[in-house]
Amino acid sequence: MSESQLRIPGPTPLPDAVRQAGARQMVNHRGPEFKELLGRVSTGLRSAFRTQNEVLILTCSGTGGLEAAAVNHLSPGDPVLSVSIGVFGDRFAKVATRYGADVTKLDVEWGKAAEAFAVTTALDRMAADGRPAKAVLLTHNETSTGVTNPLADLAAAVHAAAPDALLLVDGISGLGAVPFETDAWGLDVVVTGSQKSWMVPPGLAMVSVSPRAWAAAEKATMPRFYFDLKAHRDSAEKGETPWTPAVGVCFALDVALGLIEAEGWPSIFARHAACGAATRAGLSAMGITLFADPAHASNTVTSALVPEGIEWSAMSKELRSRGLVLAGGQGSLTGKLFRVGHLGAVSVDEIVAAMAILEGVLRDLGRPVEAGAGPAAALAAARRSGAADPAVAVPTPA
Ligand SMILES: Cc1ncc(COP(=O)(O)O)c(C=O)c1O
Repeated sequence: MSESQLRIPGPTPLPDAVRQAGARQMVNHRGPEFKELLGRVSTGLRSAFRTQNEVLILTCSGTGGLEAAAVNHLSPGDPVLSVSIGVFGDRFAKVATRYGADVTKLDVEWGKAAEAFAVTTALDRMAADGRPAKAVLLTHNETSTGVTNPLADLAAAVHAAAPDALLLVDGISGLGAVPFETDAWGLDVVVTGSQKSWMVPPGLAMVSVSPRAWAAAEKATMPRFYFDLKAHRDSAEKGETPWTPAVGVCFALDVALGLIEAEGWPSIFARHAACGAATRAGLSAMGITLFADPAHASNTVTSALVPEGIEWSAMSKELRSRGLVLAGGQGSLTGKLFRVGHLGAVSVDEIVAAMAILEGVLRDLGRPVEAGAGPAAALAAARRSGAADPAVAVPTPA
């Protein structure tokens, strides 16, 4: 059976070598082989996160990583500013609220990015109310709306307005695909998930923790056990994890990090920029309205309005029957938006092929779409995006 093109914002397609790694025989997770692997993977992740901080590997999905970020560094009643630009920003706020943080939300209109001055204003207001923020929760790339926040600017605003506040960052769907600087931007805790840019199955959250955040963890009193990062750090010193890790996913991550190193960050960033540009141009050329503010459109996921007169369920079914899987909208955008994932193992050629399938479906559903316009616009945009060769050789999934 031929496989569909999976163009959702995670889980992402697996290169052959990664798949094979995941099928390996088990090893003793308290033995020398796993210790070596953990050392190698931690080094690769530190370089990807651009940090000198420890990067810990938790066996859970990304949400578990967000929970770890909250419960290890906060106490019930702590004032926290949560900047939300969509479903996942809301989720981060909910996690902190559930564990008793005193969360002030800065809600940004969906489709837009957060602005530094709004963050500064919110922090100033909290301080004036006698509730200076202990931490700020930020989303790097909001997967539900296809918007990438100007994280460097937002982080700088937090450092200026509330120098003592920890920056806890959901980097789940951007880190590993677009430029990201944990240390240079002063990010205290950064969370990502294996099933996104990393080209690895779901099952691991990777979390970096700054010295400031470790110091806060000493005093923080939110309850934690499975996600106790200190337990993870103590075990990591011995080349282990405190609880049985998802060994097969760790094998896969090890191989994927090797592929990433071989491709190199400039090429990875250029490839994602080319795929993002190609997707936006292809959709626009087919008369589809993009949802995200163009100034902050994500290079890992593109969101667009379901064309008027078409039901997303019918469109999605038709796409699936022709071998293309796209994602629907989330939360209040369910049925209104659809999303094209272009992160991890993805090439411009695949995006062009996806546009061709989409074009066929839209025409068959009665939309007046000019034949060939979408794929041609996608290819032209990729070429313009500055990638040396937009159809760059990437680890193409089998
Ligand atoms: C930005 C962002 N945050 C959080 C999550 C939640 O991660 P998970 O579904 O792995 O728990 C996702 C998953 O799509 C995400 O894209």
